[in-house]
Amino acid sequence: MSEKPYVKFAGWGKFLPARIMSNDEIEALVDTSDEWIRTRTGITERRIAAEDESSGTMAIEAGRQAITAANWDPEDIDLVIVATATPDHIGFPATASLVQEALGATRAGAFDLNAGCTGFVYALVTGSQFIQSGAYRRVLVIGSDVMSRIVNWQDRTTCVLFGDGAGAVALEVTEQPGGLRSFVLGSDGSGAKHLLVPKGGNRYPLTHEMLEARSHLLQMNGREVFRFATTKMHESLTRTIADASLCTKDIRMIVPHQANIRIIDGAKSKLDLADGTMFTNVDRNGNTSSASIPVALCKAMAERPLQFGDHLAMVAFGAGLCWGAAVWQWNS
Ligand code: ACO
Repeated sequence: MSEKPYVKFAGWGKFLPARIMSNDEIEALVDTSDEWIRTRTGITERRIAAEDESSGTMAIEAGRQAITAANWDPEDIDLVIVATATPDHIGFPATASLVQEALGATRAGAFDLNAGCTGFVYALVTGSQFIQSGAYRRVLVIGSDVMSRIVNWQDRTTCVLFGDGAGAVALEVTEQPGGLRSFVLGSDGSGAKHLLVPKGGNRYPLTHEMLEARSHLLQMNGREVFRFATTKMHESLTRTIADASLCTKDIRMIVPHQANIRIIDGAKSKLDLADGTMFTNVDRNGNTSSASIPVALCKAMAERPLQFGDHLAMVAFGAGLCWGAAVWQWNS
C-alpha cells in the first residue's frame, strides 16, 4: 500500500418504490396542473413508498445492491453511514444500525447523518475520510429518504416536488491514485427558516394542535430556496473544481442534486461545460433528497459509464441551509 491510501467506488446500487405517482394524480389532490409542474420544475412523475417501505427498508435494498456489485462479504464492511432526513425513528436507533444488521455487516460501525438534501455529499466526504486516513478499508455510504411521509399533501407549493428512494455507494481503499480530489461543505443556519419541519421534534414536541395545523410537516419558502440554490450550486462547483486544479471543461460528468430542472439549467448556463456534462433524471423521480445524487449516479453509470481517469463532480443544496460539492477522479 502506498503512503496515502486512495478511495474508489467499488459498487453502487439504488432502490425506487414500485408505485409511480404522475402529475395528473397530484392534480386530483391540490389545485395544480401537469403543465405547471412540468414547466416550473421539470418533474413528470415521482415514486412513492408503500406502507411497509421506509428510509430503512429502501436503504437496505440499495445497500445490498451496492455490496453485491462490489463483491463484498458483508462481514468485511467497516462502517455504514446513512444520510437521511427522514429516519425510521425520531431519536434512536439510527437507521444505519437497522441497515447494518439487515445486511449482516456484523463488524461495522453505523451512524446516521442529516444534512437535508445535501446529506449524500456530506456522507460521501465523511466516508472517504475514514479510508484516506487509513483507518478503514470498506465504507458503505447510503442516501435514503421517504419525503412523502413529511410532505404536506394539501400544500401545492411543496407536494409536487418530492419523491422517495435510496441510493448507495460502496467505498473501498485502493492504491490507484484518484478518488476524492476536492470538496466544499457549507452551511448557513440563518436560512433554516426557509426550509424546515417546524414542529413535532424535540424542540416543540408533537401536540394535537400541531397535527391539526400540519406544522409537523415540511414547509418551504420556494423562492428563497431557489435563489440560494442557484447561487450555491454555481459557487460551490466552481470552487471545488478549482481546488482540484481543474477547469470546468475537464469535468466529464456533473451529477447535481435533482430538485428542479430550472435550478440545474441555471447552474449549467453559468458554467463553461462540454455538451452532455450535466446529468439529470429529475423528470422521473422528483426530488428524493439524500437519495437524489446516488440514484442519478446509478442511472448515469448505466447510460454513459465513466472511464478510468475521468472527473466526476457532484453538487447539492438543501435544508440547513446547507450545500456541498465534490470532485472525484474515477479510479475504479
Ligand atoms: N401549481 C400551481 N401553482 C402553483 C404551484 C403549483 N404546484 N405552486 C405554486 N404555485 C403558484 C404560486 O402560488 C404563485 O402564485 P401567485 O403568483 O398567485 O402567488 C405562482 O405559482 C408562482 O409561484 P413561485 O413560488 O414564484 O413559483 P416558482 O417559479 O418560484 O416555482 C418552486 C416554485 C418550484 C417551488 C421553486 O421556487 C423551487 O423549485 N424552489 C426551490 C425548491 C427546492 O429545490 N427545494 C428543495 C431543497 S432540498 C431539501 O433539503 C429538502
